[in-house]
Amino acid sequence: MPNYRIAWLPGDGIGPEVCQAARTVLDAAGFQAEYLPGDIGWEFWRTEGEALPTRTIQLLKATDCAFFGSITSKPAAEAARELVPELQNRGLSYRSPIVRMRQLLDLYICLRPCKAFPGNPLNYREGIDLVVFRENTEGMYIGVEYVRVPEIFYQQAGMERVPRTAAISIRSITPEGSRRIVKAAFEYAVKNGRRKVTAVHKANVLRATCGVFLESARQVAKDYPQIAFDEANVDAMCMWVLKNPGNYDVIVTTNLFGDILSDLCAQLVGGMGFAYSGNLGDRYAVFEPTHGSAPKYAGLDKVNPLATILAAKMMLEWLGEKEKAAALEQAVAQVVAQGQVRTYDLGGSATTSQMAAAVAAAL
Ligand code: IPM
Ligand code: MG
Repeated sequence: MPNYRIAWLPGDGIGPEVCQAARTVLDAAGFQAEYLPGDIGWEFWRTEGEALPTRTIQLLKATDCAFFGSITSKPAAEAARELVPELQNRGLSYRSPIVRMRQLLDLYICLRPCKAFPGNPLNYREGIDLVVFRENTEGMYIGVEYVRVPEIFYQQAGMERVPRTAAISIRSITPEGSRRIVKAAFEYAVKNGRRKVTAVHKANVLRATCGVFLESARQVAKDYPQIAFDEANVDAMCMWVLKNPGNYDVIVTTNLFGDILSDLCAQLVGGMGFAYSGNLGDRYAVFEPTHGSAPKYAGLDKVNPLATILAAKMMLEWLGEKEKAAALEQAVAQVVAQGQVRTYDLGGSATTSQMAAAVAAAL
């Protein structure tokens, strides 16, 4: 029996309790692994000035994949104020650990399945089954931002349109980065019997960056004549996906558009209690519920753990434990359909741990 090494990163807020729920279910599924806990989150920012300490990065490098809960993040000024006195006024700036992990480990795919479990009272419609492929390393997330535009930029044509008082964020989109995410979407379509890939962009306005993305997508699509390909502007897509969710299958898009569109799609199938992600590279992956740390619910044993349990299902799939993954998904479907154990978001009063126990029992 393979013995997997998994970096276990519950984080803070509700992270620890939803990760515990996932552990209950992974154990019940008979999954054997060594779980190696890692430090990550707000407490490490406050006390060390780094929410993702170097020792945790080392841990990631020494494991097969990581399982991540959630962490608190706050706007720059507030984050700086909460640092311990010794770290104040040292020019430290908070960086999102999940964004850093995606970039450091080149986890270029953010895979976000949005499937309506039959009988979920929160389904927008029954039968929705979409998958979002979000580019996970470039775009608006490269972290190259200026609160004041560097003077040297004004040597470029067109910069006269940027006022001296402007803050700017740089969006970087490469043909290589675009091709590999679109290829991943098509490969997924082929392997999973999907019929269509839709590339989402705004190339009519963002001509350079979205132009590169769209052109790359069109090229890759030619290698997959058996899968239909279409294109949509991101604004229109937000409308169409609500109007006709059944028209979409695999959606592929750039980083920020994928961030936004995946929350929209998550709401179609029950919201954040059902939204889970795989951050996937060629060699490593980090699995997580898409929701945040919900500090006001922390420690209350109240939130819906299904997103985290489904993230565990995706981890099993990625590790090649297909039977256990399928059994786990089936158990979640059964608990949702029976409707006897429901957390507050589903209109019930069950706790996080009761929901996990119900899924474990259904296995
Ligand atoms: C997500 C989240 C993150 C993102 C935040 C926490 C940095 O919204 O995973 O969708 O913007 O990617
Ligand atoms: Mg998001």
